[in-house]
Amino acid sequence: MTPTVDLAQITAATFADARYGIFINNEWRSAQDGKTFTVENPATGDVLMTIPDAGAADAQAAIDAAYAALPAWSALPAGQRADMLRKVAALMLERRERLATIMTLEQGKPLAEARGEITYAASFLTWFAGEAERVYGQIVPANTPNKRILVLRQPVGVCALITPWNFPAAMLTRKLGPALAAGCTAICKPAEQTPLSALELGHLFVEAGFPPGVVNIIPASNPIPFSNAIFDDERVRKISFTGSTEVGRILITNSAKTIKRMSLELGGNAPFIVFDDADLTAAVRGAITSKFRNSGQTCICANRIFVQRGIYERFAEAFTREVAGMKVGNGLLPDSNIGPLIDLPARDKVQRHVENALAHGAQLLTGGTPLPAEANPTRTFWTPTVLANASTDMLVAQEETFGPVAPLIPFDDEEQAITWANDTPFGLSAYFFTRDVSRVFRVAERLEFGIIGANDALPSTAQAPFGGVKQSGLGREGGSVGIDEYLEVKYLALGI
Ligand code: SIN
Repeated sequence: MTPTVDLAQITAATFADARYGIFINNEWRSAQDGKTFTVENPATGDVLMTIPDAGAADAQAAIDAAYAALPAWSALPAGQRADMLRKVAALMLERRERLATIMTLEQGKPLAEARGEITYAASFLTWFAGEAERVYGQIVPANTPNKRILVLRQPVGVCALITPWNFPAAMLTRKLGPALAAGCTAICKPAEQTPLSALELGHLFVEAGFPPGVVNIIPASNPIPFSNAIFDDERVRKISFTGSTEVGRILITNSAKTIKRMSLELGGNAPFIVFDDADLTAAVRGAITSKFRNSGQTCICANRIFVQRGIYERFAEAFTREVAGMKVGNGLLPDSNIGPLIDLPARDKVQRHVENALAHGAQLLTGGTPLPAEANPTRTFWTPTVLANASTDMLVAQEETFGPVAPLIPFDDEEQAITWANDTPFGLSAYFFTRDVSRVFRVAERLEFGIIGANDALPSTAQAPFGGVKQSGLGREGGSVGIDEYLEVKYLALGI
């Protein structure tokens, strides 16, 4: 039986004392032109908050503030910057329940996943607090005795950080952590669907003692005025963006004007390969985790599930049984495993992929429909779906579905699996399950992806360099190399 939860009461209590605006210089401002926009709950359609809608003048004010704050922030000893980052991380963990509730309300993901995201998000601040203290230079031997060469690493400068709606907290801290640790200041543009998680974090930065102007957060219903202000301004030296490959392409083109550093974490089309010798239980559990995390709305979700013929029937049966048992519903309800999709276009894409697969010969093993109308107020809830005997030419294998649809594609041998897996312009993440250690190395080395999970469906962690190859992006976030994205290398040739 579904436990009783007073959803309206939770929403009212969460936002009763909330104060959000355009966050510049540690102040909460209205938009200069007075505009506002609404943030809605994708599970109910209810308006959660009406907040200021930043335009070009507000973006400009944020750039001014970040630029003014840069000299003092970058000159602060790294240990002091690290202490402040650790303080925000501690506050995030202390306020985890509130932050997770805000996230579920504006994004839709189940509360347990939102709690997990807050912990994950805090880990980037802690990790990069450590890295702040390890930004070393080099002394390089010169080729004459009266010369020395010193290599310095210095903050890039003002950074524009543009984050997506699917991980409203973790994608922000994965960028802010290294930027602030390196001594950069930041202007953050959260996704228009989910600005509240980012704005709530703004309060924690103030509480942790961050000086005005170091972190600025610009909510806007339309990202274009913000982007144009960034592109036009020489003082913004770096853009970090997580989102679609189409938008990434536009950012690359437009940033040519003032030649900015770029980090891009873009789309994926992850293969998930189950070899005959895989541990069946682990492979099924892994496929569930990878495919259905955040209702299938992650860039590293399994998109194409390749299953070798010798294990195909057993995998399909066990996997379908698990999927059929998943509970779709409002993320605040404790037994929901699958929340709503972010909006109707997302839902329409899922429907198009399912219909295309069925029209081209796939069989429906479970799901395949939206939730019934009476349980689906926003029409964005889709039942977790398994498609048998899918093939590589179907839409569901050609495009990133970004929803709870699992196409099972049978394959014959290792060569075929690798060829099919690599047959995509994207190269973010890939997974495979096998018990053969030689195959682990053979396959991992041939897969053209930045992130490989071998018998591991959840490879994301602050210590690892997250990022893609091919059209999945540029640069890495996390790991010891993550801070390099926010550092310029300079050398000093010194005559003595
Ligand atoms: C993403 O979907 O872009 C991020 C997923 C993760 O960090 O695990």
